[in-house]
Amino acid sequence: MQTISVKASLNYNIYIERGLLNNCGRLIADVVNTRKAAVITDDIVDGLYYKKLEKALKDEGFSVVKFVFPNGEASKSTETLNEIYNFLCENSITRSDCIIALGGGVVGDISGYAAATFLRGLKYIQIPTTLLAQIDSSVGGKTAIDLPCGKNLVGAFKQPSCVICDPDVLSTLSEKIMSDGMAEAIKYGMIRDRELFELIASHNTENVSSVIDKIIYKCISIKRDVVENDEFDTGERMILNFGHTLGHAVESYYNYETYTHGSAVAIGMYMMTEKTCDNTVLEKLKSCIKAYKLPCGCDAPVSSLVKLCGNDKKRESAMLNFIVCPQIGHAQIKKLAIADFENFILN
Ligand code: GLY
Repeated sequence: MQTISVKASLNYNIYIERGLLNNCGRLIADVVNTRKAAVITDDIVDGLYYKKLEKALKDEGFSVVKFVFPNGEASKSTETLNEIYNFLCENSITRSDCIIALGGGVVGDISGYAAATFLRGLKYIQIPTTLLAQIDSSVGGKTAIDLPCGKNLVGAFKQPSCVICDPDVLSTLSEKIMSDGMAEAIKYGMIRDRELFELIASHNTENVSSVIDKIIYKCISIKRDVVENDEFDTGERMILNFGHTLGHAVESYYNYETYTHGSAVAIGMYMMTEKTCDNTVLEKLKSCIKAYKLPCGCDAPVSSLVKLCGNDKKRESAMLNFIVCPQIGHAQIKKLAIADFENFILN
């Protein structure tokens, strides 16, 4: 088993091993002071993996209750959050019990936010079941729900007590959802690690499974380093948003229906690189994006996307922070007035 330790406001470990879901009970028991767990999951992951988790927990003497909501971003809402709070009350979950998030980014984000706020906070464990959640959203303690006016607008920093990462669970993901995660993996290569980028670029959708464990380990290690330096996202952590300012605008322009988060980030990374890099870097990025059947562009007018960037929550008053990678493996944070960002992208 590989262990990555995170030193943040709460120190915790990320455990990575194939088959770990079947025997994660001991690892969870070691970080909580309870034998009562509330598992939160969605209706797809429930059918695939809940039974394995339940057995692993019961083998360690846990009593387990379960809350299931419909798969998808629409569930990351105040309505679902209220249902979770009611479920926790009805099942007499106390501050010394724990929440276990079993699922992708939506499950992790809303469960983490419930754990940050219910009874002013209780421990939670992340068991990410998508590539994107394994390499990004389950690590670093960002939790949130969406509001009708935007994604992740209500949230809290709340580090998990541990993260259980089992690459075997990725075998049930569709190619589209794997690619969604690969876009974030490409991002890690672009911002911090040329070798990782080359590893990803030398594979494709069909054969990446042969190196996915290595990719997961490297991506999580990068995320750990960045989070340790800037847990509360006031400086270096912003580099994790390479491709995201325009990416969020793409997602929003199409009402979150046309492009997955990863696809939109791929478009955002390509657009930023087109503006800031020479052709060699751009061509390398393009062929890597294409190898994972991700898009480099969309038909939304750039002027509309730039307007939507003005709504980005990373904005500071009239200024916008955005990330450029002048070379593969190196990121820089840039700050521009929104009007100047418009000129920068449009010209
Ligand atoms: N997903 C970006 C971050 O955790 O900061």
